Amino acid sequence: MTTEGARRSAGYIPGFGNHVSTEAVAGALPIGRNSPQRPAFGLYAEQLSGTAFTAPRHENRRSWLYRMRPTAEHPPFVAYEGAARFAPGTSDAPLAPNRLRWDPLPPAAVPTDLIDGLVTAMANRDPAALEGVAIHRYAANRDMDARVFANADGELLFVPQDGRLALLTELGRIDIAPGQIALVPRGVRFRALLPDGAARGYLLENHGALFRLPDLGPIGANGLANPRDFETPVAWFEDRDEPVALIQKFGGSLWTTTLDHSPLDVVAWHGNLAPWRYDLARFNTIGTVSFDHPDPSIFTLLTSPSDVPGRANADFVIFPPRWMVAEDTFRPPWFHRNVMSEAMGLILGAYDAKADGFAPGGLSLHNLMAGHGPDVASWQAASAAELKPHRIEGTMAFMLESCWPYRPTAQALSDAQLDYDSVWKDFPKAVLPR
Ligand SMILES: [Fe+2]
Repeated sequence: MTTEGARRSAGYIPGFGNHVSTEAVAGALPIGRNSPQRPAFGLYAEQLSGTAFTAPRHENRRSWLYRMRPTAEHPPFVAYEGAARFAPGTSDAPLAPNRLRWDPLPPAAVPTDLIDGLVTAMANRDPAALEGVAIHRYAANRDMDARVFANADGELLFVPQDGRLALLTELGRIDIAPGQIALVPRGVRFRALLPDGAARGYLLENHGALFRLPDLGPIGANGLANPRDFETPVAWFEDRDEPVALIQKFGGSLWTTTLDHSPLDVVAWHGNLAPWRYDLARFNTIGTVSFDHPDPSIFTLLTSPSDVPGRANADFVIFPPRWMVAEDTFRPPWFHRNVMSEAMGLILGAYDAKADGFAPGGLSLHNLMAGHGPDVASWQAASAAELKPHRIEGTMAFMLESCWPYRPTAQALSDAQLDYDSVWKDFPKAVLPR
C-alpha cells in the first residue's frame, strides 16, 4: 500500500525524537552555539519550543531555526473567512450518549486546497487547556501554493486515506502516501501539495502532551513502533518574495495575515522538535498466541499522556494486517464498555468488527460507557468460524482513544448515519438451561 516513491529514504534522518543537525546550504548551521552574534549569511536564529523551557530533560523538545527572515515580521492577523467547516467549535448542547458513524467525505466539488477542504468532526477540551484532541477530515483537489498554515493549538497527525501528500514544512519536505502517517509539530508552518491531484484523509490534532512512543512494559525493549522507523526530513527551504497568505489556527479559531515572502525559509536547523513520517507497515503487531484477544492497547503506536498515570490524553492505535491464531476464542474485538472514548477511522479494506457500513474514509464514535463491539453479521461469522490460523489481509483501521468524551460539531451531528444503532439489533437471546 506504500508507493516506491514514498518509500525512498533519501532526504530523511531516521529516529524518533533525536537531536538532529541539518543544513540545506553549507555553512548555514552555527557550530558550538545556538545564537551567534552574526549568523552566517545574515540568517536569523530563532528558537521553536515544543515544551516549556523548564520541562524535564527527557521530555524537553525544542529546535533552533536559521532563517532568511524572522517569524516576528508579519502584519496583524484578522479572522479567516474561508474553511467554514474547519474548527467551527462544538455544540454546548447536552451531549447525547449515542454511538455515531459517518460515511466518507465526498470529493471536493470546487477547487479546494487542504485547508479549505478540512471538515471538523469532533473535539474534546478547549485547546487553551493544553489538553484534548480534535478529529478533522479533509477532501481536497488543489495544491496550496501561495498559502501556508500553522496550528498554534497543537501538533497535527496526518493520516492519508486516498492520494499522496507532499508536506512542505519549515523544517523540511515530507512525502506520504496512504499507509503512512506524518506529524507536524505545533506552530510549524507548512503547505500541502497533492501529487495525485486529489486527496482525502484524516487530520488528528493533539492539544495535549506531545505524542511519544508508549512504554513497552513486559514486551521488552523492542516492538510496536520502533524508533528507527520514524523519519525526519533534512533542511529544505524556498526563497519566494511574493505575497503569501498565512492561515493560523489559534484558540480554536482561524486567523490570517499576508506576508511578503514565503515563511518556509529555514535554511538550517538543529534540535529535537521536528516533523516526521512513519510507514504503518513497519509496525510490529503483537497479539495472542494462546487464547483471548488482548486489550487493544497492544496496538498503540503513539501516546499523549494526561496528568493521570496510565490514562492517556490520546492514544493513536492501529489495526494492521496480522495473523489470528487464538484457540477457543472469539477473535474479533469483543463487546465492551470503556471509560475511555473511542473515535475510529478506516484507511483501507474492512474492519474485523464491522461487516458493513464502515467504509474507508468513514468515521465512528463510541463515547465513554457506550456499549459496542462486533455487529450482528460479524458476531455470527466469528462465532461459527473454524478456528484455524488465518491472516487478516488488506486492512488498516485506526483509533484515537481519549480520556475526554468527544463532542461532535453541529455539522457532524447532522451528517451522521441515521441507522447506526441497528448494527447491534436482533442479537439472539441466550438460552438458559431449565
Ligand atoms: Fe471499543
